[in-house]
Amino acid sequence: MKDQILSLLSARHPWRDSVIWFDCIGSTNDQAKLLAMQGAPHGTVLIAGRQTLGRGRLGRSFESPAGAGVYMSVILRPGCKPEELMHLTCATAVAICNAVENAAGFRPGIKWTNDLVWNGKKLGGILTELSVDPATGLIDYAIIGIGINCCQQTQDFSLQLQNIAASLSMAANKTVAPQTLAAAMICALSAMDAVLLKEKSALMYCYCKDCITVDKDVVLVRGDEKRYGHATGIAPDGGLIVRFDNGAVETVQSGEISVRGMYGYV
Ligand code: BTN
Repeated sequence: MKDQILSLLSARHPWRDSVIWFDCIGSTNDQAKLLAMQGAPHGTVLIAGRQTLGRGRLGRSFESPAGAGVYMSVILRPGCKPEELMHLTCATAVAICNAVENAAGFRPGIKWTNDLVWNGKKLGGILTELSVDPATGLIDYAIIGIGINCCQQTQDFSLQLQNIAASLSMAANKTVAPQTLAAAMICALSAMDAVLLKEKSALMYCYCKDCITVDKDVVLVRGDEKRYGHATGIAPDGGLIVRFDNGAVETVQSGEISVRGMYGYV
């Protein structure tokens, strides 16, 4: 599998010598953290054929069955302050839209902040994790973890996911091989990395265009509290600007946002 992915990358691709393949692993993000702590360089790419402990945001699991998707983590060492990298998840989401467009021939939407979606269903997600060096206050490493469903049909998902998940093959109505997408992702992520700190507003402009949450009615769920409102835009740091039904306008940075018409929320 690794050879197939490398055969789709240019011989001079800057990350091609740092691609690491695992047939099966707990979580590529966990393994990436371990390697980063041992000094793995910027641009190290971990890809697994299957994960047994795939993780998503908010402590959720990410179903990662053998050969059905791309499960990838990339180690970045941008050497900047954490506040300069608030847009990392957004920039990654745009890069993955570019990769999907190249590999599968359609452009997914982004549900704020980190879900890739098609037709109201989730195609995959992004889990970004940072470690800051306490001595300097600078980022020691950032891990971007991406999981994309490639080959499943509805019945291949667990019962819990059948109404809310989809794969690239379902969306494109043709088989999209994980190795094709993996190579496209490596190219798109390294291109993103090259402009990450220099072209922040251009990246955020692209994110706003792809984000389907803007201009939708939303519910913000935090613990037992539910607040209803309308998403009006994306802030420069990636926060979601919401006008709540009581008239207050706030930029939301965390918590679960449900969008009317998505994942069964109507
Ligand atoms: C989400 O849906 O909230 C994010 C899902 C991220 C899943 C990917 S798969 C590769 C990497 N390893 C993990 O354990 N998680 C990410």
